[in-house]
Amino acid sequence: MLTEKEIADKVMVREHLARISLTSEMSVQDTEAYKEEIKSLLKANDACLVAHYYTDPVIQALAEETGGCVADSLEMARFGKHHEASTLVVAGVRFMGETSKILSPEKTILMPTLEATCSLDIGCPEQEFSAFCDQHPDRQVVVYANTSAAVKARADWVVTSSCALEIVEHLMDQGQKIIWGPDKHLGRYIERETGADMLMWNGSCIVHEEFKAKGLTDLKAVYPDAAILVHPESPEAMVDLADVVGSTSQLIKAAQTMPNDTFIVATDKGIFYKMQQAAPGKQLIEAPTRGNGATCRSCALCPWMAMNSLERLAAVLRNKDQEIHVDDALREKALIPLNRMLDFTASLRR
Ligand code: 13P
Ligand code: SF4
Repeated sequence: MLTEKEIADKVMVREHLARISLTSEMSVQDTEAYKEEIKSLLKANDACLVAHYYTDPVIQALAEETGGCVADSLEMARFGKHHEASTLVVAGVRFMGETSKILSPEKTILMPTLEATCSLDIGCPEQEFSAFCDQHPDRQVVVYANTSAAVKARADWVVTSSCALEIVEHLMDQGQKIIWGPDKHLGRYIERETGADMLMWNGSCIVHEEFKAKGLTDLKAVYPDAAILVHPESPEAMVDLADVVGSTSQLIKAAQTMPNDTFIVATDKGIFYKMQQAAPGKQLIEAPTRGNGATCRSCALCPWMAMNSLERLAAVLRNKDQEIHVDDALREKALIPLNRMLDFTASLRR
């Protein structure tokens, strides 16, 4: 028997999901029919669904129900590499599919759509970035996972937001100076936290850049007891107001473990699905994206993550037409800094 509080929590989660679900226009019958079809196609294709926290909650739930995973970009890479399925269906953005292919060349890597990219990847073309690196041969090249296979191939290290601090600290301990690309906000945050000598590429995430510190201050006045959780791709003024700055998985952990009942969350709102599961009964509020006179291009919703729909997921499992390929020579080069990151983070866990 559920207690009254448990029932109230479940109602709150359902209402919340209804608000943020992108498939809300689809009828319940159609949603269920797609889910059943996808489940049987996954089995028939010996495929496993690996989804990012920013995808539609319906897709996240499907990944959970079918033995796949819902995770941050680091964990998605690790999970896919070790899973026994011959096909991985990566629901996320293109760099996540490419990372899976680099780590698991023997597997077929499908994505609901190959069009799902990332403003950081777009804003860091390999030739320009390489030329920038060539001007500073004395520096270690550290690139964010949100980049193409070609940019990774030019790097000494790949990092995600959940391990960037530790890896830069490690390089500092070795007396290294750093070239950082492409996210300038994350880079500046790491630079400030560690004091490392970092030359920045000028890239940014169009979703996190929309968060407005003025609006956040106003919202905090309405919820004075709320803790503020901020992804480090956000502007500095947002980070300055944060109680916790961290990767998607670190923010979920914070909502789960901090004593506060209310959280204001500055990252893509797809995260509320897992965050609410981890912190049932707690109130989760979206950080504001519209400041005075500002326009809102993303409204805390990554347009490329949102391309991962049930229809596309079913279609790719039927047609196998959205497959990731990475050139062999490039793959071998990109594998080196990726494995460095995986080995380093594995050593931190021991
Ligand atoms: P995570 O590495 O925290 O999953 O973030 C990926 C991302 O694209 C954030 O915008
Ligand atoms: Fe890229 Fe930003 Fe979308 Fe993450 S949220 S995938 S960084 S555009």
